[in-house]
Amino acid sequence: MTDYLNSYCMHTATCGELRANDAGRKVALTGWAWHNRDHGGLIFIDLRDRSGYTQIVVDPDCVTEEDFHAAEHVGREYVLRVEGTVRMRGEREINPSMATGEIEVLASSLQVLNTSATPPFAVEDGIETDETTRMKWRYIDLRRPEMMANLMLRHRVVTALRSALNERGFIEVETPILANSTPEGARDYLVPSRPNPGKFYALPQSPQQFKQMLMVAGVERYYQIARCFRDEDLRADRQPEFTQVDIEMSFVHGDDVIDMMEDVMQQCLAEVGTDVSFPLIRMPYAETMDRYGCDRPDIRFGMELCDLTDIVKDSNFKVFASVAQSGGVVKAINAKGAGDWSRGEIEKLADVAAENGAKGMAWIAFTTDGQEKSPIIKFFTDEEFAAMKEALQVEPGDLVLFAADKPAIANAALSALRLRMADLLDIPREGHAMLWVVNFPMFHYDEVEKKYDAEHHPFTHVLDEDLDKIETDPLACGSYSYDLVLDGFEVGGGTIRIHNAEEQKRILRVIGLTDEEIEVKFGHLIHALELGAPPHGGIALGLDRLVMLLAGKPSIRDVIAFPKTSSAADPMTGAPSPVTTRQLKEVNLRLL
Ligand code: AMO
Ligand code: AMP
Repeated sequence: MTDYLNSYCMHTATCGELRANDAGRKVALTGWAWHNRDHGGLIFIDLRDRSGYTQIVVDPDCVTEEDFHAAEHVGREYVLRVEGTVRMRGEREINPSMATGEIEVLASSLQVLNTSATPPFAVEDGIETDETTRMKWRYIDLRRPEMMANLMLRHRVVTALRSALNERGFIEVETPILANSTPEGARDYLVPSRPNPGKFYALPQSPQQFKQMLMVAGVERYYQIARCFRDEDLRADRQPEFTQVDIEMSFVHGDDVIDMMEDVMQQCLAEVGTDVSFPLIRMPYAETMDRYGCDRPDIRFGMELCDLTDIVKDSNFKVFASVAQSGGVVKAINAKGAGDWSRGEIEKLADVAAENGAKGMAWIAFTTDGQEKSPIIKFFTDEEFAAMKEALQVEPGDLVLFAADKPAIANAALSALRLRMADLLDIPREGHAMLWVVNFPMFHYDEVEKKYDAEHHPFTHVLDEDLDKIETDPLACGSYSYDLVLDGFEVGGGTIRIHNAEEQKRILRVIGLTDEEIEVKFGHLIHALELGAPPHGGIALGLDRLVMLLAGKPSIRDVIAFPKTSSAADPMTGAPSPVTTRQLKEVNLRLL
């Protein structure tokens, strides 16, 4: 890499490559002046480029007066070219925490290639500058070594994935950005079409339908590093435009895509030096919800959810008994190490449960000195209490938190509490844990729209044994689907597709489309399925999330060169921005 970097350019070495065995070598370096110090006549400049930094020594005896004068006036982030000789540092000047810390370069000439105004914030790791400022001056932010390292890691991950896929016969095909809407559950970004007044393209939420068409075309194994656009509420792990490593394969069924992806991930992670234990667990969706309360569990720690419904269904605690008897569940987690927390500290946790829809959060604290504190113990018989303790494996020092509700709400509340308690108790979550969550239900019921919707997307193949229930009992239908989960984040998702036109129509009808709507919106897909579509399936990795986790960063914005703010804006370029009346007229639009 460094050899390559030193060709076709103004330098003969990079700022990060020089070591003790380069002593005596004559080099030319280019880069940015990072830290400058004037030490009694000698000037020291840390010269930085993307590969690292090297200490330059400017001695008035070794350079022209003019160059020394220039060195004296070098400011932060000036762009320099330095010629000189690599020499060993004195014993006491060696800096073991610096890659080039054994050497320095004694300058023989120094040339200022460009000056720099004072940067808006320091080009240093660990700064506390607010993120909008960092985004406004993103090119300065990216100079910071930790940000540059993120870009490099992203590149290495993409390169490793590309070569792993190439080796397995996948070919890269580009699909359109100006497209029609494809359902992935978010709002579309719309683009007006000038030659077609009143008509709009939708930027792709994913290349889903195109990649299926490629399978019908006989491409057999496709991938694409694909930009996707989704107008949804933004969070730390969501951006309005993001990148998928999008994959599709023909003549597959069951676990074939999972097996392939697992091999590719193992190869990629080994190449970028990330330690993840393989083979991965394949946990059915139902079990995942039962044990962790969510479909993307962080399995690096326990504190699993425990179902106590049977134990408390006849208890005198009316909240629990009535929930249990009306088809709900009573579940709990055991937070070890919080048994001595004060009532006030515990009650604060109820907010986390409430934010997730729970009507309350009952608790029992088991103090380290053997007492039990709780507003609800009095309601239980000795047998019920003993059975709960046994199920939760309670010891002194434990805090048990309960949620009683419909399964979805109890699970959401306890899953959030589990993560919050892990944070508050500093439960170690070192390293990485990856797993598959498989066999999601085909549909869920959308309470707002009052209709069934596809859990993944409506192109997903229903489990063979459930095909006869599509119309009669949609919620009981399982699907050939799989999510890849890393450290509590969904980093990929895919399914085996429907390749039969009739099955495709049945699914689209269940989610509320009339036959006319099916023809208008999905006619192209139905026709393709009628024209010799092979069995096929695929997956898309969320590249930004994957790199964020491998880089150990809290937000995908840290691994995207030019991300958007939470209001989907780019503070650097000012996008989105107003357009002229003339431009609007050209595309036949008027603002309200
Ligand atoms: P899905 O919608 O699950 O599947 O997306 C695949 C992966 O993309 C990532 N992702 C995002 N990353 C950043 N910002 C976002 N707004 C965002 N939305 C999704 C996630 C997710 O796992 N066409 C299907 C894939 C298939 O079936 O092959 C699809 O798009 O990591
Ligand atoms: P109450 O009898 O309503 O005062 O509730 C007694 C305790 O049970 C309080 O700690 C409540 O937070 C808790 N609680 C109430 N409803 C629920 C529920 N649905 N799930 C779990 N705990 C609850």
